[in-house]
Amino acid sequence: MYLGLDLGTSGVKALLIGADQAVIGSATAPLEVTRPHPGWSEQDPDSWISATEAALRQLAGAYDLSGVRGIGLSGQMHGATLLDAADTVLRPCILWNDTRSATEAAAMDANPIFRAQTGNIVFPGFTAPKLAWVKAHEPDIFARTARVLLPKDYLRLWLTGEPVSEMSDAAGTSWLDVGARDWSDDLLAATDLGREHMPRLVEGSQASGQLREGVATPFGIRAGIPVAGGAGDNAASAVGVGVARPGEGFVSLGTSGVLFAAADGYAPDPATALHTFCHALPGQWHQMGVILAATDALAWYGRMVGADPATLTGELGTPQGPGRTLFLPYLGGERTPHNDAKVRGAFIGLAHETDRAAGTRAVLESLAYAFRDTQEAMKATGTALNSLIAVGGGAASPYWLQTIATVLGLPVSVPAQGDFGAAFGAARLGLMAAGDGGPEVATPPDIAQTYDPDTGLSAAFDDAYGRYRATYQALKDIS
Ligand code: XUL
Repeated sequence: MYLGLDLGTSGVKALLIGADQAVIGSATAPLEVTRPHPGWSEQDPDSWISATEAALRQLAGAYDLSGVRGIGLSGQMHGATLLDAADTVLRPCILWNDTRSATEAAAMDANPIFRAQTGNIVFPGFTAPKLAWVKAHEPDIFARTARVLLPKDYLRLWLTGEPVSEMSDAAGTSWLDVGARDWSDDLLAATDLGREHMPRLVEGSQASGQLREGVATPFGIRAGIPVAGGAGDNAASAVGVGVARPGEGFVSLGTSGVLFAAADGYAPDPATALHTFCHALPGQWHQMGVILAATDALAWYGRMVGADPATLTGELGTPQGPGRTLFLPYLGGERTPHNDAKVRGAFIGLAHETDRAAGTRAVLESLAYAFRDTQEAMKATGTALNSLIAVGGGAASPYWLQTIATVLGLPVSVPAQGDFGAAFGAARLGLMAAGDGGPEVATPPDIAQTYDPDTGLSAAFDDAYGRYRATYQALKDIS
């Protein structure tokens, strides 16, 4: 058996697979996000450990975990977990969707070495500008910072006692030379940090350390088993759904929305606001566009109208063409394609007849247009996508999947039985680190259903996408 631990934004998931890679069982425990000021988004790293313990306790209640041979980690990317010389947490982790460091990010991005060495814009959500913010606003904490860890790597420190990261997550810090797969001394120095602040690097499928006695062992897991490097949640999902070759991609409908394309080489184009990162498998890279609020936007709308997302999507039939109302999903700014931390969302085209269902449609359709923005950026860089697999909680909505297929003009497939997301990919990386298989185990899942583009509606959705695209220009100066 192999265990995948995914430290998401809204919860920790622990998932167990067998030697045949079939899912044996899973458990989740929730996490809270705090937003003490507009644009801020934080979490207490201690809550990651208690949530992991809670998920493992549930799993251990249902299964004997003594046969686990390897553990893989995956997690929300970019968060800055600051530790002092005794590895004590100095402040709440500043998360991936926190945009407080927009000024610092813009200043770093204006220094050409960042785009040249990382292949990416320095986005406010990335890790390095957060440290620049802490240096400017919390200088005492900056001075005491001895180590900076990404969220899942803090979980690894707890599990193994080892400060280690891996390429896919490290690529989102703005400190990695993404082509060379190594920390950049120049970029660290530009943030008044050095290699001594950074964890050691491994590939996602390599062992990073061994489980220590007394940590997950109370749940029956044996000390000494390898913990894989693992991956940022998007690269882990790609391993989970077998997206590793050019032309293959997935769409993730989670808190954030991600359109992900595998690539066989390193070909960045930072100006597009696409992210070009290392894959979790050695010698591979990928591109992705990130929408900061996907199911997060639907959950927000649900709170506004007093219904949960499943009720809202359940009220819709099949797509009959685009609705008149548009929604701009920029609740906390946007990454791809705008790199704009200040812009905020909007409903456009409200009428007397607009009801709750029309609002839900607007949210789902407009998020499909947001994915189209990424697809257009990918096309411009020569990255082709032939088909998509859908992952994440939003993949339970046929309306959304059918709309995405039509708006992107690509078949969108849903795996046969749930759970092929980041925790599953992490478990596969745990299998590889245990020496029980190589990258070839990252195969695509059996498909339950494929949503083909409805070509009869393509022109109408193209037209609506044009309206959506035009709105950002009007919105950015007034929102
Ligand atoms: C990726 C990103 C998000 C988080 C969410 O760049 O910021 O997808 O990883 O978990």
